[in-house]
Amino acid sequence: MSVVADLDARLAARRAGPLVRRRATLATPQGVHVVVDGEALVSFASNDYLGLAADPRLVAAASAAAHAWGTGAGASHLLSGHQSPHAGLERALATFCPPCAGAAAVTFATGYLANLGILCALGDRDTVVFADRFNHACLNDGALLARARLVRYAHNDADALAARLASTPARTRIIATDAVFSMDGDEAPLAALLALADEYDAWLVVDDAHGIGVLGDGRGSVAAAGLASPRIVSMVTFGKALGAAGAGVVAHPSVIDAIVQFARPYIYTTAAPAMLAATVAASLDIVRDDAPRRARLAANIARFRSAVGCLPGSPLALGASRTAIQPLVVGDSDAALALSRSLRERGFYVPAIRPPTVPSGTARLRVSLSAAHADADIDGLAAALAASIAAERAA
Ligand SMILES: Cc1ncc(COP(=O)(O)O)c(C=O)c1O
Repeated sequence: MSVVADLDARLAARRAGPLVRRRATLATPQGVHVVVDGEALVSFASNDYLGLAADPRLVAAASAAAHAWGTGAGASHLLSGHQSPHAGLERALATFCPPCAGAAAVTFATGYLANLGILCALGDRDTVVFADRFNHACLNDGALLARARLVRYAHNDADALAARLASTPARTRIIATDAVFSMDGDEAPLAALLALADEYDAWLVVDDAHGIGVLGDGRGSVAAAGLASPRIVSMVTFGKALGAAGAGVVAHPSVIDAIVQFARPYIYTTAAPAMLAATVAASLDIVRDDAPRRARLAANIARFRSAVGCLPGSPLALGASRTAIQPLVVGDSDAALALSRSLRERGFYVPAIRPPTVPSGTARLRVSLSAAHADADIDGLAAALAASIAAERAA
């Protein structure tokens, strides 16, 4: 069999099952009202939690920075791609969300790369990465790239982690966790994890992709938990609540220097454009001052939970999330897809999330709320859910 025929056979098998993945194309900017593959829909599908992804102030900042700095960084940070806006954003991040006194920061083109970079800088063959089972894939991939051993512990179970730490010898230990879990919306017990990091002399890597901008007055999950330690390495992304793209690592200056010295995912890639760094800096200014936007998001989350929590006859259970990520677990992948399709026919865009992104048997609708949703959008979604469930029962 030729390589192409072999690949085509694998693709045919994927297409025949419920796990086939398809990209929808938006003909509009990201927002609540989008056009998806030609259909006008109300979206509950993005991570644009504060509604900043197409904010005119950020568009103006990006456009001014493009005029000042051009569109390309032209080289990696270590060659000639590190420009004043990158350095300015590093300083702004270190001040905005420091996980310890005297923190420093470094930026990456994506959060995926940032997590790889952290684990490659801190870990090696003599390292064990202790990872929550529900962590985002890139923390696991970082452990692989660092050639570290990956030991997973039961979701949010500090006792299970303690047992693993006690029984696993290692020269370097890294505890790695999402702060807000991307498919469940619940939060890691950061204080308990830091206590274990202290006890076992471990790093605590906190992936705050979904907390930055939203929790802790916008400063993220570490600030919300009131924690500070040179052991904490905080990864914050710019592509979700901050409405742009890229990521930053904020940590003790030695960690940041180790990333610059040792992390292949930092060293061997072109820097994100300076215009992007300037845009993110503008977003931090908005996020720092815009408490009403966060209050609006909190009100939307409460409205959704109360509307969906009391849908008559609904088999969908609300999770323990108090964040913008509100999963409705359906179980079966085909059933989750059918519910997502039914909502779409009623004008709402809520993607189904299936294995392997979530554990098998827990396919779900991932409802993602934004400060930009109006009350009517949320009430409309609850009504559409009720109608879809009733139609499914009647079928
Ligand atoms: C928890 C978590 N970490 C990291 C990432 C990766 O960030 P980025 O999209 O900037 O690569 C994501 C989302 O994509 C995420 O949900």
